Amino acid sequence: MLDKLSPQPADKILMLMQMFREDPREDKIDLGVGVYRNPEGVTPVMRAVKAAEQQVWETQTTKAYTGLAGDPAYAEALGKLILGTSVESERTSAIATPGGTGAIRQAMELIRMAAPEATVWVSQPTWPNHLSIIKFMKMPMAEYTYFDNATRQVDFDGMMADLEGVKAGDVVLLHGCCHNPTGANLTEEQWGKVADHLLAKGAIPLIDIAYQGFGDGLEADAAGTRLLASRMPQMLVAASCSKNFGIYRERAGLLIAISPDAKAQPTVQGNLNYLNRQNYSFPPDHGARLVMTILNDDKLTADWKAELEDMRTGMLALRKQLAEELRQRSNSDRFDFLAEHRGMFSRLGATPEQVEALRRDHGIYMVGDSRMNIAGLNAKTVPILAQAIVDAGV
Ligand code: LMR
Repeated sequence: MLDKLSPQPADKILMLMQMFREDPREDKIDLGVGVYRNPEGVTPVMRAVKAAEQQVWETQTTKAYTGLAGDPAYAEALGKLILGTSVESERTSAIATPGGTGAIRQAMELIRMAAPEATVWVSQPTWPNHLSIIKFMKMPMAEYTYFDNATRQVDFDGMMADLEGVKAGDVVLLHGCCHNPTGANLTEEQWGKVADHLLAKGAIPLIDIAYQGFGDGLEADAAGTRLLASRMPQMLVAASCSKNFGIYRERAGLLIAISPDAKAQPTVQGNLNYLNRQNYSFPPDHGARLVMTILNDDKLTADWKAELEDMRTGMLALRKQLAEELRQRSNSDRFDFLAEHRGMFSRLGATPEQVEALRRDHGIYMVGDSRMNIAGLNAKTVPILAQAIVDAGV
């Protein structure tokens, strides 16, 4: 049996992590994997997370199983953070999942179970693991235009033209905020148009929201998701706490399903629980417990929000600095988009050869499609990157 296996293609983002580790150069710069780093290059355990861990350590009396959906207090607290008051709680079901990837995977499982013929529409480009999971699950998939390579902004006309092809019952995967890999995001007006369109088509949105709080703030980053939730009869939301709580390895995610009415909710919840049982029984609890401990404690929430806001504004300052350095060094405004993009990532628009040259000649690591993790920079490395970008002829 095992001798029948053939090698799998390496994940491009994770492969880069490995290459970076093996590079002996001391001045190398890692703009690869989407992990937040502070100016010292450290991915810190957030203060509120440390405090919550202490609280859990002191008060937790058992490690017995929770429920198949995880602790309902986690879904309630995180659901509120994401959806606010946009949808009646009687229509929502949710399961805790191992990270955002777990939520995406379970969303696909649910779609395949409920509507195996439904096509899942993904933005071109999107997070490579979306494509990989959908292909692995052999689900029908289509792509819609998203990014204008010339302006490095959303090609909204192209997107809407492609979404003309959506059929009733199809699923459209959208990034709630901080689009990965491009950094270019829909405006509120555009979210409204997307809602109109999906409603007219009878399509179902699946929102991947993995960076809430990294773009324009916790509330603003959820605005598109909330707008859709308030208008769509059905919708799925896959959320991650990896980045905004900095608990990457704890694997805390959530899949929310919004059903057309309260009557359908128990069956939807039952199916979600069933999917957890089939795939791993009980979802991991530790990260989820930290999140609910923070969100159910006003002081911890305030401290978490303050630290998250510092991270967000720090990334924004780096964006501005990089755009400014590039403006001076390139004598043009063609990199101004970097200050307009939001979240951890921007797609620079370099060719694969230029990306390779940046790595080979300067020890600067970014994903092959020229996605850069802005949080991999600090005030000292920004000018180095800017000069390297100009030298590479981007
Ligand atoms: C990324 O896009 O770099 C992150 O979401 C990490 C990952 O799992 O790919």
